[in-house]
Amino acid sequence: MTDITNQTQAALAAIAAATSLNALEAQRLDTLGKKGWVSLALKTLGGMSPEQRAAAAPAIQTARADIAAALDARKAALETAELEARLARETIDLTLPAAPAPRGSVHPVSQVMDELAEIFADLGFAVATGPEIEDDWHNFTALNMDETHPARAMHDTFYFPDKSGDGKDILLRTHTSPVQIRSMLAQGAPIRLIAPGRVYRSDSDATHTPMFHQVEGLVVGRDIHLGHLKWTLETFFKAFFEREDIVLRLRPSYFPFTEPSVEVDVGYSTEGGRRVVGGHGDAPGHAWMELGGSGMVNRRVLEFAGIDPDEYQGFAFGLGIDRIAMLKYGMNDLRAFFDGDPRWLQHYGFSPFDQPTLAAGVGAKA
Ligand code: DAH
Repeated sequence: MTDITNQTQAALAAIAAATSLNALEAQRLDTLGKKGWVSLALKTLGGMSPEQRAAAAPAIQTARADIAAALDARKAALETAELEARLARETIDLTLPAAPAPRGSVHPVSQVMDELAEIFADLGFAVATGPEIEDDWHNFTALNMDETHPARAMHDTFYFPDKSGDGKDILLRTHTSPVQIRSMLAQGAPIRLIAPGRVYRSDSDATHTPMFHQVEGLVVGRDIHLGHLKWTLETFFKAFFEREDIVLRLRPSYFPFTEPSVEVDVGYSTEGGRRVVGGHGDAPGHAWMELGGSGMVNRRVLEFAGIDPDEYQGFAFGLGIDRIAMLKYGMNDLRAFFDGDPRWLQHYGFSPFDQPTLAAGVGAKA
């Protein structure tokens, strides 16, 4: 009797002291296991007389019940502790894309727009936006193209059938230049901004799509001159293409909204059938490629936008985003940009983790 009580006390103490499920299992085998002392003691009851059994059984039954309860309680405690330790040890970032591989990708146009914003922000430019559904005053008139101006016809404009409430023609903007007007009217001078976005023209072949992307640039101040324009574009393209040997050529041209106007060409060579920017366009094996238009903002445009042209002057530029994206990332057909083919996107798209930063490189691609 005392033997069983002592043994039970010892077993309960050992169970309470068990620090692992393995140690606890060893205690179970020692007591309630097939060859455990409780099981063996229970077996002895079979060989006893009824009187002996009545005297011995309660102690053994009690020992078995107490030990079983202690084992269960200790097991639950150890399992809870183990779970809590795992929860503390293992962390899951629920903001990560779901496994296995994320299917979506960032479109090269979006990526390049982020790169533009990053580079120009470093030069002190704000990012401005304007509506894609414009009126002809902002898209043309205020940019020094009145109703009779021949340049209007060159834009292959998509017009809406109805006019605006105040009698203006409504259209899909043909360029990002109207954002110049809207921003100057809203903010006045000085001003320094880029305006990336979608533009529309009724035009379609391997290098033209009815919708495409431009980025407009505008800097107005008291003594801004063409040298600032050239430096800004050069600095931008060096950062964008991540090479120092970018050579720009400003070629005299005409735009109604700039005077003087220049077209911006970049020197390039062809390597393995692919155009690679860099080097002087007149050097052997090199040529010039047009990247966009620019010039000093026409006095008339400043006037339309409510800025005194005797006090302020500035430069503006317009670049094709799709075009510089193709140059940088090596695509050769513009139409594929807008087909939405997942295989194309898988190939040319970017990981959302490829955030362009000046420190890590604006062209980061794994
Ligand atoms: N808006 C012109 C176009 O779409 C591009 C352009 C040329 C923009 C000269 C400018 C500029 O700001 O100064 O063809």
